[in-house]
Amino acid sequence: MPSIQTSLADLQLDYLDLYLIHWPIALKHGVSFPQKGEEMLSLTEVPLSETWTEMIHLKEMGLARHIGVSNFSTKKITDIIEKTGVVPEVNQLELHLFLQQQGMLDFCQTKGIYLTGFCPLGSADRPANRIVEGEPKLLENQTIQELALAKECTPAQLMLAWAVNRGTSVIPKSVHAHRLTENLAAADIELSAQEMEVMQGLDLHYRYIKGNFWCLPGSDYTLENLWDE
Ligand SMILES: NC(=O)c1ccc[n+]([C@@H]2O[C@H](COP(=O)([O-])OP(=O)(O)OC[C@H]3O[C@@H](n4cnc5c(N)ncnc54)[C@H](OP(=O)(O)O)[C@@H]3O)[C@@H](O)[C@H]2O)c1
Repeated sequence: MPSIQTSLADLQLDYLDLYLIHWPIALKHGVSFPQKGEEMLSLTEVPLSETWTEMIHLKEMGLARHIGVSNFSTKKITDIIEKTGVVPEVNQLELHLFLQQQGMLDFCQTKGIYLTGFCPLGSADRPANRIVEGEPKLLENQTIQELALAKECTPAQLMLAWAVNRGTSVIPKSVHAHRLTENLAAADIELSAQEMEVMQGLDLHYRYIKGNFWCLPGSDYTLENLWDE
């Protein structure tokens, strides 16, 4: 008897090109953003492999063209592959010059999993309660600004070009048409091995979206078991 409370197939979802498991957590039926631990379910009650099995069904039913995960560690990806035999097509996670996650990229490349980076520009417009005072700011980094100036592009374009040049995709968000155009044009910027090396040196292993909003008192979730770090 599966422990998952509602089969994804019962939710009458629309067809989508790509469905992702947004975070490696489980919520009680009807909860979209929990305020207390009791609104969550542990991964013992609802193992990720069970949620992944339901995602596989969505694809089999023709409701999704592609299925993947988001914010999954290599340990969690390995676990769902071992239990179901199905490799996620994508892992969407925070990726930028200050959080390069080279080990994750290497792992995913060996498995044929595509990496999509969110917060590629540092997500300056996050809700104020998710911004840590004094945190490093990508767009204000002097090396990034100098490299962009030399390359005759904007700092945002440089960071997006870095992501594309290393074989990942990026999903920068903007509400301004001129920035959407600017960001798209970054796909055509080529970077030399030397420029990539300088940028590799900027890694701070700094995470903007820490995921602590899931680590509620009374739940099983902690930052350590969320990221397996
Ligand atoms: N899977 C997940 O768990 C997860 C988590 C977080 C985010 N995401 C997704 O990832 C996407 C991007 O993340 P994000 O919005 O947090 O961060 P982001 O794309 O790194 O940053 C967005 C910020 O950058 C500004 N910006 C955009 N283009 C710019 C440019 N060319 N020059 C200067 N500033 C620029 C935007 O301002 P304006 O809008 O004013 O231009 C906005 O303040 C979103 O679609 C989001 O839904 C997914």
